[in-house]
Amino acid sequence: MAQQNQSDALVLFGATGDLAYKKIFPSLQAMVKGGRLDVPVVCVAKEAWTLEQLKVRACESIEKHGGGVDSQAFGRLSSLLRYVPGDYTTGQVYDDLHQILGNASHPLCYLAIPPSLFPIVVEGLGCSGCAAGARVVVEKPFGRDLESAQSLNRTLHSVFDERSIFRIDHYLGKETVRNVLFFRFTNSFLEPIWNRNFVQSVQVTMAEDFGVGGRGKFYEEVGAIRDVIQNHILQVIALLAMEPPVGPDDDALRDEKVRVLKSIRPPAQDSVIRGQFHGYRNEQGVAADSQVETYAALRLFLDSWRWQDVPFYIRAGKCLPVTATEVMVTLKPPPQRCFSGKEIPMGEPNHFRFRLSPEVEIAIGATVKAAGALMTEQLELYACRDPKTLQEPYDLLLGAAMAGESLVFSRQDEVEAAWRIVDPILRELPAVHAYEPGTWGPREADELIAPHGSWQNPR
Ligand code: BG6
Repeated sequence: MAQQNQSDALVLFGATGDLAYKKIFPSLQAMVKGGRLDVPVVCVAKEAWTLEQLKVRACESIEKHGGGVDSQAFGRLSSLLRYVPGDYTTGQVYDDLHQILGNASHPLCYLAIPPSLFPIVVEGLGCSGCAAGARVVVEKPFGRDLESAQSLNRTLHSVFDERSIFRIDHYLGKETVRNVLFFRFTNSFLEPIWNRNFVQSVQVTMAEDFGVGGRGKFYEEVGAIRDVIQNHILQVIALLAMEPPVGPDDDALRDEKVRVLKSIRPPAQDSVIRGQFHGYRNEQGVAADSQVETYAALRLFLDSWRWQDVPFYIRAGKCLPVTATEVMVTLKPPPQRCFSGKEIPMGEPNHFRFRLSPEVEIAIGATVKAAGALMTEQLELYACRDPKTLQEPYDLLLGAAMAGESLVFSRQDEVEAAWRIVDPILRELPAVHAYEPGTWGPREADELIAPHGSWQNPR
């Protein structure tokens, strides 16, 4: 359920950092342009900058990552910017913030800072009175395992209640990912077949044709499982596999997502393949003998009435042939051959294909008779097809957090349920296999899926 009060200030901790530069300032301009932001934006960081220096940085960020400066919107955004420099470990910075917030009664505090600083800043906000009536936004990673996620949640809860905490998984802000939910629950033709009786298998692929892009040091601490599987991919699975929510409120939906995550059996070691692309160990910040995975493929099963025995194959990797995130839900093939002729196969299974990134596509795979010949042809019927999503995730997510709408954010129990799935793998990591950049990962991943067919590579 949305909270009542719209945020009347946005506080950005880590305003001079990378996340603010690449994602947040561009979104702020888009929000101003769309009439969705008209409150003071108080930037906080340790650099002893002037407000003018901050504006220059914001301008550069938007030039580089926001599709260019819109003079009118940027002018308006500039007039909303404030800057509070200071050391997060001293009380002064919070006192200065308190003063600049003036009468704001529901500031939204965005912690675009390393997680190690969360306890310090959260405590500072609490002690100074800045947290009264406030909301807080944190970014993934939400811990690095179940235990640290629980500890992070305790830190946040020491000052903020759960309804005031907004955990960003930017996948939930993607138009395409939201469309999985809409497509499932605004159509009635899907529900009768969306289960173990009709679905043969589900695949989710998150492929990227680039490496770790200078983030070697960060990536060494996470690897593909922590970086994108524990969060983005499991969120997608939750939306694909959940039961219909009992009503329209935010918690009804999140309750069902938690239920489905809890139904996922943690995979055994032989259901997990880890890979590393050749050349990763030469990246800056990467150990010469690194065992960190840049690719992971998992076979999952859900212990639920709807999905018992349906294999869910998921994989994510860097340096693969394309950049695309795609879901393939394959139905069981027709039960009987009704037409003769050697060009007529037994009957290809139908499928539902959701392209989540970079474009928007929802397609239904079907078989028809090829014109004039006694043979079949595979085609796709498009339910939606768009070269580009309309609103950037951060724009949507920031707007939702300011409105107190929690639907597109991860709740504490969701995050913890997702860690429960991957924790056993992370405790006892299977060996890492090498693969060549530009290929679809290690061949062991093909062996993993072999009992149920082959990987459907996004084009
Ligand atoms: C981030 C990961 O969360 O998601 C990155 O840290 C990954 O490693 C990115 O590249 C992918 O996001 P998108 O929106 O580009 O698909």
